[in-house]
This record gives sequence, structure tokens and C-alpha cells, in this order.
Amino acid sequence: MEPLLKVENIEKTYDGKKVLNGISFEMEKGNTKVIIGPSGTGKSTLLRCVNRLSEPEMGKVILDGQVVLDKTVEKEPRIDLNAIRSQVGMVFQNFNLFTHLSVLGNVTLGLTQVKGMKRKDAVERAMIEIDRVGLADKKDAYPALLSGGQQQRVSIARALAMDPKVILFDEPTSALDPELIGEVLQVMIKLAKEGMTMLCVTHEIGFARSVADEIIFLDEGKVLAHEPPEQLFSNNSSARIRTFLKKISELYGGE
Ligand SMILES: Nc1ncnc2c1ncn2[C@@H]1O[C@H](COP(=O)(O)OP(=O)(O)OP(=O)(O)O)[C@@H](O)[C@H]1O
Ligand SMILES: [Mg+2]
Repeated sequence: MEPLLKVENIEKTYDGKKVLNGISFEMEKGNTKVIIGPSGTGKSTLLRCVNRLSEPEMGKVILDGQVVLDKTVEKEPRIDLNAIRSQVGMVFQNFNLFTHLSVLGNVTLGLTQVKGMKRKDAVERAMIEIDRVGLADKKDAYPALLSGGQQQRVSIARALAMDPKVILFDEPTSALDPELIGEVLQVMIKLAKEGMTMLCVTHEIGFARSVADEIIFLDEGKVLAHEPPEQLFSNNSSARIRTFLKKISELYGGE
């Protein structure tokens, strides 16, 4: 079976420095992959290259048979980036909700504006996802009145409503107070179990260990390891990886 997402040999340079240096990986439909690695190692940049929010100099990205990026050919085929981006959900560290819109407003916006749905259908669809993240009673609330955990769940509902082929998470729990992390992870665990395809940058080792099919360890723009959690967290990992894991377990209280 063809993988759902194919990322080939991505290279990205900022200010003369190679931030991503030949990254390749594939994702099967329904899989959850976790990306970990030291700060500044290119994790966010890699996610952004997957839906072309950042423009790499080299490489190729194929999503469900559609070309998202192809720098291997002289002239790229015409690519409808809006269509592709509507198939790739993104959940950021800082929620990125529209503060002037209610929960329902945030979740329906993409449905009416991007998908062209009628308001009534959009509301119906949005409510399914708002309910799925446990916030039906908050549908009319504005983001400022919600906790960080609730805001992040709205942002997940907003991504889900678009019916994405894959959701990219960039440190979705890093901005949250410790007592709010669990409620967001619970939603992510549920999604993973329900078969959503998820590519997650996270320091949550417990999540990675229990939910990830595979973990990519990025270091200085390179894939240092790409393997199932039981292998990565074993004593067979390289000293570099073991040192990093020890450090994040001290910082984030993981295992
Ligand atoms: N827009 C930009 N312009 C210039 N340099 C950038 C830009 N975005 C990222 N970089 C640089 O690219 C490198 C990788 O950044 P990136 O944000 O992808 O790392 P990261 O692994 O996500 O780090 P963190 O764990 O701190 O989030 C860093 O050195 C960063 O300074
Ligand atoms: Mg980052």
C-alpha cells in the first residue's frame, strides 16, 4: 500500500545554515508519529515544510498521491496549495484561535470560508467536533474566557472539522500549565485510537511511548533515529539519544 504521506530528502536553509539536511520519512494512514529532538533542531520547520508554510530548497512531499512539493524537477507541476492545506490540520503551541470569534465561530470559519459550506451545515459539523473534544457547553464562549487546555481543545476541534488527512501538532501542550496537559493529551490519544493520522512534535514521553507507532529523533537537521518507541527508549539507543531523553524527563517530569 502507498503511504499516506511521503517526505523525501527535504533540505531547508536559513541564513546560510542548513536547518534540515536531507529529511525523509513516510507515514501510513492511521499512524501516529512523534518527532522529538533538541531545541533549534528543525522540528517546527519540518512540520511547516510538510504543508509548505516554509519553502524548502530541495525535496519532495506527496500527500495521498498528490504532489505538495517537488523540487526534484526543473518545473514543478501546478499545485493548489489551498486545497492541500485544507487537508492538513495544524495545531500549534499557542492555539492561534481568533480571539474575536466564539468557540463555534472559530470552528465554523474554515468550513464556511474554505470549504464553502452553508452556515447551517457548518454549525452542525462544527458541533460534532466541539462535542468530541468535550466542549459543547462552551460553544458560545470566547477564547479569553477559556483555560489553555480548553483553548487547545478548540484548536483541535477546528482542525478536525476540516476532515484533514493528517494533523500536524507542534508542541500542543508546551504552553499549558501542568494540570491542563492531561485533558489535551486525552483528546489526542482518543484521536490516535480512532485512526487519525497524526504527526506530533512533543516532549510528552508518556504519550510517545504509549501512542506513537514510531518516533523520529531529529538532531541538527538530520534523522538520528526513526523507530518504534520500545526501541528508542531502550538501552540500545545511542548515547546522544539517551542523554536527551534523560534531560527531558528531568525537565518535563516524564518517565
Ligand atoms: N523564519 C526563520 N528565519 C530564520 N531562521 C529560522 C526561522 N525559523 C527557524 N529558524 C532557525 O532554524 C532552526 C530550526 O528552528 P525550528 O524552529 O525548526 O527548531 P525546533 O526544533 O522547532 O526548536 P524548538 O524545540 O525550540 O521549538 C533554528 O536555528 C532557528 O533559529
Ligand atoms: Mg519548534
